[in-house]
Amino acid sequence: MTNKDAYVIAIDGPSGSGKGSLAIHIARELNFHLLDSGAIYRLLALKAIRQEVNLDQENEVLPILDDFNIRFESGAELAVPFLDDEDVSAELRQETIGEAASRVARHAAVREGLLSLQRSFLKPPGLVADGRDMGTVVFPKARFKFFLNAGIEIRAHRRYKQLINMGLSANIAHLRADIAERDERDQNRSVSPLKPAEDALVVDSSLLDLTQVTELVLSHIRENV
Ligand code: C5P
Repeated sequence: MTNKDAYVIAIDGPSGSGKGSLAIHIARELNFHLLDSGAIYRLLALKAIRQEVNLDQENEVLPILDDFNIRFESGAELAVPFLDDEDVSAELRQETIGEAASRVARHAAVREGLLSLQRSFLKPPGLVADGRDMGTVVFPKARFKFFLNAGIEIRAHRRYKQLINMGLSANIAHLRADIAERDERDQNRSVSPLKPAEDALVVDSSLLDLTQVTELVLSHIRENV
């Protein structure tokens, strides 16, 4: 199989919609590569914080891309993210880093600078790409596009459980407020705002568990591939 035959399954949606877990399941089921684009923005935010740059200043964040040494290693469950050869998986999932990621993600030149890195993840037999603009900007020709959504209360509860399971502390009211703020920032930014691609299949996962969403998405892919 050549790179030309490899295809993309784009999964976009807001924070806590379950797209990350869905992407992992689909990639595993189809034996596809995985791009967690949120992790790339989080890695950039972490590096920016470590260098004490102003996250809201594009001209301060942009130069970090010139020396952005990241990689993902396959782990038992998820791809393990490394920044400058250090495993930063625990730090990366913290809400403060998610919030910082949504600030660096607002800069047009930063988004542009990350395009080729994200596209380089597409290799045979194919790629499951999860994020906010996979189907709209990064892979506009993706063969399949899904937009996963769920009510904010449900998303806050899911995030809460996720953090507690990882042994991190969490507060449901704070999480809800953080998610609302992040939604607002992601949906209203001028570049690549969070929105379903015109040709995306929108899935509301509020009343579905991960197995049900995975089955729905997989059967859509198998019927249309
Ligand atoms: O998906 P995750 O919560 O890890 O993403 C962190 C932040 O990175 C998001 O709130 C969003 O602002 C940004 N992001 C983005 N475009 C993507 C993926 C993530 O702007 N494709």
